[in-house]
Amino acid sequence: MGLIKIQKVMSNELAKRTFITRPPEPPSEYLLNDPTDSVFVGITRRFGVPFTWTFGNLTNPHISVVGITGSGKSFFIKTFLIRASYVWNTNAIIIDWAGEYKGWVRQSAGTVVSLAKGDYINIMDLAGMKPIDRAKQIMNSLDILTDIANFPEQRRLTAEAIEQAYLNAGFILASAPSRTKNVPTLKDVAQLLTEKLQEGTYEYPAELENAIYRLRQFSREGEDYFAKKSTIDLDQLVTSGLVDLDLSGLPDERFRALAALFILQTLKEKMRAEGWSANKGLKAIIVLDEAWKVASDNRSDAITIIREGRKYQFGIIVASQNPTDINEAIFSNVGTNIILRIKFQKFMDYLQGSLNFSSFIRGEISRLGVGEAAIDMSFQTSAQFPSTFMLNRVVGEVPLDVYTVTLADMLTEAENRDQNLQKEYSFEKIFLSSKFVENSINTDAMDDIFKRLEAKNRLVDLKEFVRILLAEMLGKDSIISLLRSIGISDSIISRAFVYTE
Ligand SMILES: Nc1ncnc2c1ncn2[C@@H]1O[C@H](COP(=O)(O)OP(=O)(O)OP(=O)(O)O)[C@@H](O)[C@H]1O
Ligand SMILES: [Mg+2]
Repeated sequence: MGLIKIQKVMSNELAKRTFITRPPEPPSEYLLNDPTDSVFVGITRRFGVPFTWTFGNLTNPHISVVGITGSGKSFFIKTFLIRASYVWNTNAIIIDWAGEYKGWVRQSAGTVVSLAKGDYINIMDLAGMKPIDRAKQIMNSLDILTDIANFPEQRRLTAEAIEQAYLNAGFILASAPSRTKNVPTLKDVAQLLTEKLQEGTYEYPAELENAIYRLRQFSREGEDYFAKKSTIDLDQLVTSGLVDLDLSGLPDERFRALAALFILQTLKEKMRAEGWSANKGLKAIIVLDEAWKVASDNRSDAITIIREGRKYQFGIIVASQNPTDINEAIFSNVGTNIILRIKFQKFMDYLQGSLNFSSFIRGEISRLGVGEAAIDMSFQTSAQFPSTFMLNRVVGEVPLDVYTVTLADMLTEAENRDQNLQKEYSFEKIFLSSKFVENSINTDAMDDIFKRLEAKNRLVDLKEFVRILLAEMLGKDSIISLLRSIGISDSIISRAFVYTE
């Protein structure tokens, strides 16, 4: 007995020591893939293997990214999206909770959709779907975001009114519309319920009143972000390159979650409609960064996309500071977990419990620097090797030298809504420099201007831009001629001076 015990202790000790001197890593043939069919991420710590990500040998293409604030989650995501678009032409849709990606998306020549700041979504829009299916989805979102599930009669009344609104607008519930008609909004739905209340024949007026009240939260003037005609073409969403859906202009989490759920539902339908294709790589990546309400609820379409995404070559990247905010079904089913620096022991316990890595790796994770990661992958193989390994700093993409001047601060509300009006101008550094030279701005002043623009993350409104130019002691005339030469209209230029004086 005694002897066995000693041997056990000794082999444990030995195992630990091997771990310390030789941190585990999957064999290089799993990490190093064809560069024309994979995304380079960084160099592994143990053997210095260039880790190139592909999902061919993984259980699925989805990725979770966790780590404390400033650990490098967004940096990894941006790098990954840019490389995936080079390698596979992958489209990306970022569901941008805090608006933290929009500057970068502009710089990368992507499209920014700013909800509540000029852009609107009508959540009754069909985007090729049958009204009956969209009606179900809207109810599903209300289930997640409101207490309607606890009130079956109110739920029934609401669902019925949504369908009635489609019927009144000339749609057939069970068939996909062949052309776009005038799509009803939640205002029409609330109106139908109000009419029913006014008829006075319905047995339970209090139920009707409550159902109306709930819908009014999303459709009253000023908060009708989802009850107006859509300004974006949902059909184009998955084929438009890099798209940032900026939710930061919406007043609270509920509105943001409603937008995110709607977009996920729409993307799920698009994914299924597009069907399978034998293309290399990923067709689209959907990014959910800190979208905890959407990533944590069982009924969210994030989970459907996780389940079905592989066969349609759709990937999801879910990022969070708090791994327990990511639904278990998502977390345990993603093919790749990127773990950046983690501090809280309870988060570490959760990660170790689900991914089952060694205490050696646990120690390493708590000491990670910015951009350094532990990576865990689920390979489709029966071969035995450790699935978690350490990566040196994620090697990032150099951002493009692009500077953006927005006019939004100069425009009236009506102008901001005008789809045909150019609201921002992006310039490559080389173009701006040449304009500075043309307008006789000297080199020192030029360097200073670029420095000031850098400090603003290369994104300024026109007022700020004019202030920067004035601070360089440029005369009004040369500023006017510079602004004209980069394409800004005289009426806007004169406003800029009124505002800055
Ligand atoms: N691999 C890296 N190489 C170089 N710089 C990096 C790397 N990762 C992150 N950084 C820099 O560190 C800073 C924080 O990174 P990032 O914004 O990605 O953090 P985050 O995890 O998304 O934080 P938050 O949770 O607050 O959004 C940024 O300035 C970023 O440029
Ligand atoms: Mg971030």
